[in-house]
Amino acid sequence: MSVLPSTLDNDSCDTAVRASFLHFNADPDQRGDACEYLEDGLMILKQGRIQKLANAADWIDQLPDGCALYDYSGRLVMPGFIDTHCHYPQTEIIASYSPQLLDWLQQYTFPAEEEFSDRDHADKIAAFYCDQMLANGTTSSAVYATVHPQSVDAIFEQAQRRDLCLIAGKVMMDRNAPPQLCDTPESSYRDSSELIQRWHLQGRSYYAVTPRFAPCSSPAQLEVCGRLLDENPDLYLQTHVAENPAEIDWVARLFPEHRSYLDVYDSYGLLGPRSIYGHCIYLDQKDRERMAASGAAIAFCPTSNLFLGSGLFSLEQAQEQNVKLGIATDVGGGTSFSMLQTLAEAFKICQLAGQRLTPLKAFYLATLGGAKSLYLDHRIGNFAVGKEADFVVLDLAATELMQCRMDSAKTLDEQLFALMILGDDRCIQATHIMGRRQYSRAS
Ligand code: GUN
Ligand code: ZN
Repeated sequence: MSVLPSTLDNDSCDTAVRASFLHFNADPDQRGDACEYLEDGLMILKQGRIQKLANAADWIDQLPDGCALYDYSGRLVMPGFIDTHCHYPQTEIIASYSPQLLDWLQQYTFPAEEEFSDRDHADKIAAFYCDQMLANGTTSSAVYATVHPQSVDAIFEQAQRRDLCLIAGKVMMDRNAPPQLCDTPESSYRDSSELIQRWHLQGRSYYAVTPRFAPCSSPAQLEVCGRLLDENPDLYLQTHVAENPAEIDWVARLFPEHRSYLDVYDSYGLLGPRSIYGHCIYLDQKDRERMAASGAAIAFCPTSNLFLGSGLFSLEQAQEQNVKLGIATDVGGGTSFSMLQTLAEAFKICQLAGQRLTPLKAFYLATLGGAKSLYLDHRIGNFAVGKEADFVVLDLAATELMQCRMDSAKTLDEQLFALMILGDDRCIQATHIMGRRQYSRAS
């Protein structure tokens, strides 16, 4: 962490940003002072890291010559959004109808993923995916590639070109999938090991061991996953669990000796810090206790859970047992790249269960909460001194309807609520990565 400068010079400041600022230093459900809001703030950066966030009036006259100033007065700046679970190879099949998850995998997902044996195709979709992230204010993601190692190279390369912070991995599946999409325990070990060497901890890239889900991995392959985690410190693991009733029945038939679906993964040593479990709709109390104790995180995927008819996740139960939790688009089972739209659907799922997702909590989950769930909060998630300056510039009146709503909003809370219910990519005026503007919305 750098020391707070009391005066500014070129040694402490190369970039400044003027705007309204909102960020969190804790969970707003747990602490009344968790959120910091500056109506007219100035954020001072040096080499892409945060040096200071303060009232503009106190500092604007002190900016040294040569310091670049982004003047976003009248706009709201928040930490970049963090998407804790998504599939870049499913970009082209977003919004494809099937009755439920298992049909959708067969009918659309597997055929789309077969295309990624072609490196050019993977490059094209990876570039588009990363551009969509930026256009939606998302600066970090945990992403599934396909079974093809080159699909992993493609997404890491495109992310690095834009300086995005990315967790990604090669999908592992050695059964119950089309033969062209199947690897073996041995080849998945070899390919994953090579990819770990190439990408893990390279700048802002992290590798995740990525068994698709228990039905597509033999016991031997799940053992390989555990071995990879044992052999490589700080590796991530990402998979799906307890998403859909038919899927859960299938797992019970494939692994009859296990107490629960989650217990299958647990028995192979796949539960721990930096393990990210997508969906988790049908975990029971014991499963949630185990998640919390192990430090694993839930990726809550609201648009996907609604679109695929999977079920209603209980945010309250996860919170009651202190399970780490982030929000996720789950593109392309999910239906939007927009974290704003994703928060809106999360809110509605909570409504149906008589639970409340406040706007402060929602934006906490999309920023610092997500960073904590991914164990990346030492780098990203808020505007604490020393952190990497990933941020999104939001126009709360991007549409005529939003302008009309904002005119009558009386509090910041009301504004934020309308932003998350009505907002989408039209509200993203700009996205900055490590201080640099990587996206600017054409007006
Ligand atoms: N379960 C196994 N694979 C997938 C996938 O690609 N998407 C979703 N939503 N669930 C899965
Ligand atoms: Zn998924």
